[in-house]
Formats: sequence, structure tokens, C-alpha cells
Amino acid sequence: MKLAERMSRIGVESAFDVLVRARALEAQGRSVVHLEIGEPDFPTPAHIVEAAKQALDQGYTHYGPTQGLPELREAIAAHVSRTRGIQAGPQHVSVVPGGKPIIFFPMLALLEPGDEVIYPNPGFPIYESMINFLGATPVAMPLEEKRGFSFDLDLFRDRLTDRTKMVILNSPQNPTGGVIPAEDLRAIADMLRDRDVVVLSDEIYSRIHYGAEPPVSISSFPGMQEKTIILDGFSKTYAMTGWRMGYGVMPGWLVEAVNKLMVNSNSCTASFTQRAGIAAINGPQDCVETMVAEFRRRRDAICQGLNQVPGFRCAIPGGAFYAFANVNGTGMSSKELADFLLYEGGVSCLNGGCFGEYGEGYIRFSYANSLTNLEEAVRRIKAVSHRWAPALAV
Ligand SMILES: Cc1ncc(COP(=O)(O)O)c(C=O)c1O
Repeated sequence: MKLAERMSRIGVESAFDVLVRARALEAQGRSVVHLEIGEPDFPTPAHIVEAAKQALDQGYTHYGPTQGLPELREAIAAHVSRTRGIQAGPQHVSVVPGGKPIIFFPMLALLEPGDEVIYPNPGFPIYESMINFLGATPVAMPLEEKRGFSFDLDLFRDRLTDRTKMVILNSPQNPTGGVIPAEDLRAIADMLRDRDVVVLSDEIYSRIHYGAEPPVSISSFPGMQEKTIILDGFSKTYAMTGWRMGYGVMPGWLVEAVNKLMVNSNSCTASFTQRAGIAAINGPQDCVETMVAEFRRRRDAICQGLNQVPGFRCAIPGGAFYAFANVNGTGMSSKELADFLLYEGGVSCLNGGCFGEYGEGYIRFSYANSLTNLEEAVRRIKAVSHRWAPALAV
């Protein structure tokens, strides 16, 4: 049986493939430090787990409303309104199984062949995959290391055409850890305000940042909330990747479209996990602060370590939990280097090219691992650096 033609255009997420390869090496008795996968290594906070257990005992084991439990949508709307400085109500919220469906469903609802989508490159690979899957045209926005991995605004203006239907922003960003400065967002908002475009603002790392001020959402600029889909969720903030719960905040007409796609696919998000989501949002937040403080220590340690490796240069990321090291100085392609580090060095990391053509020359290290393991990873990388820097090796 032949698969539908569109399946030839859908992509995958390399982190999962690399994890499989790393696990295969471990099965052969090799030791691997895992810096490939993008999920917090902390347990889900106990009060959230407890709320899920109680919900199971209370019978939250049946279908719920497609759009999400009203009490959870109220909590999300209040949280997003406060943190983004906008006015969102429960009618603007779609609760879905993870952050990813807020990429999948709105794109499915909006994009047609011929539509252009401007998206960050390097970026989360699902954006480009979905644009291609739907037959729309991907228009890559190169991220620039020298601008803290924000992009050139003149280049952005040049990329806008009458066919631009969607602009994807992601801040704090995967894979670079970059945070788009407020003044760049203001300039982007000014360019988009009078255009018939939708902004998909992926803010899944909104709570994981290291600056004095939280990252700004483009939705907070005048006239932008009406054309913005905010993607956020529980996976990263509360170490809940396996619970599969995320949400979108968007105009009502788009919520209706997402509802239709949800009813055709999932019916609803699991009811007892949504009860846990209410406990997460309305409960104590010190668990998030503790996790972010630990990520900050790890960020400082891994960046310092990577900057000592010959041929590596690693900017200090402002958010998320990824260090995106420039490895051009090694003279190896990033794919060659990532494979070498896995098979010869015992460090599993991702070739920047997995995140698009402009990721070539970089390696992503996820620092969602203990300080001890991060130090061990740096030690291992230095130990094999004679491969590309014979004279300098330690
Ligand atoms: C930028 C970005 N958006 C969305 C997601 C999806 O999150 P979830 O696991 O909640 O589907 C991820 C996960 O890695 C991500 O990095």
C-alpha cells in the first residue's frame, strides 16, 4: 500500500532518533552522557502529582469538554492575561495534549498551498515539517548569533509579501536559548499590525529565562492580540513532558477551528491531567523558581566549559535550557562532530543542522542534566578534542 503523497513532505524530530542511537550504544555497555533531549530532568512537583491522584479518585476518568475544563481555562486565561499584559478570557483558550498540537491544529486550519510562512531557522523542526506537509511555502528567517539569536529586521521586512499568511516567533528559543528583545518585537509588531497575517508565538519556555525581566510576548503590543496565537503549556515549566498537556490562547474564531480538529482527533485532553494542570497554575510556584535557579547554575557551568574547548564558542543563552555552541573552529561539519562526540566521546548532543540549514556549524547541548554529568560531558569533549585540534588538546 502506498502512503499518501503528503507523507513524503512531513519531517521528524531528530532528538528522538539520536536518543535511540545513544540508548543502543548503552545497551552495548558504553557510557553516554545525555545532552540531546529537551526535557527537564526534575520530577513533576509533588502537589501536582497529588492533584492528579485525587482527580482519579474523584472520577475524572471520562470525556470532558473538547476545549478543556472551564476551571482550567479560567486559570490559564488569568495567568496569561497577567504575564503578557493582555485581556484573555476562557473563551480564548484551547487546552490540548501538549504544546505541539498548537502548532499542528492552527496550521492545519490556516495554511494552504501558496501561503508563505516566515519561521525561525535554526528552529524547532516541527515548524518547517508542518509548513511542508501542508504544501505551504517555508520562508526561513536566519537567526544571528551576533544579535543574541534574534534576527535582522531589514531581512524580515524583505521577506514579507502579500502571500505571507503566518509568522512564527519562538522566544525563549529552541535550539539557541535566544530571547527576542522587546524593541525587536515592537518593530515586528509595527510591520505586521496592518497586514492580514497570523503570528504563532511559541512561548513554551516563557518561564525559563535568566534575565531580570521576563521575556515579552508580541501579543502585548497594540493590535497584536487579535492576530496572535500564544503557544504555552506545562511540559517545560512544571517538568510534565509525559503528561501531554499544553494550550493555545487565540482569537475566538481560531478556537472554534481548533475545537473542530480536536473533536476529530482527540475528543478532549485527559480529564485528570487537566485537574493537575489547575493545581500547577494556581498552586505554589517556588518549584519553578528552584528549577530555573538550578538551570542557571548549569547554564553557567556548561557555557564556561564549552568555551574552553578548542574550536568551540558558546554564547550565554538568555532562556530555555540549551547551549548552542558555534563549532566552526573545529573544521568539522556539525553532523560529523555530533556523531564523533557520540561514538568516540560518549556525549550525546544534536547537530545544529537538525534545526534547519542555518543551524549548520553549531551543536545543541541540552543542559537538562545534573551538574556532575555536565562537567563529565565537558571533560569527555576536551579529551577527544585532539581529533580537530591536535596541537591544543588537553
Ligand atoms: C519550541 C518548542 N515548542 C513546542 C514544543 C512542544 O512541547 P510539548 O512537549 O508540550 O508538545 C517544544 C518541545 O520541545 C519546543 O521546544
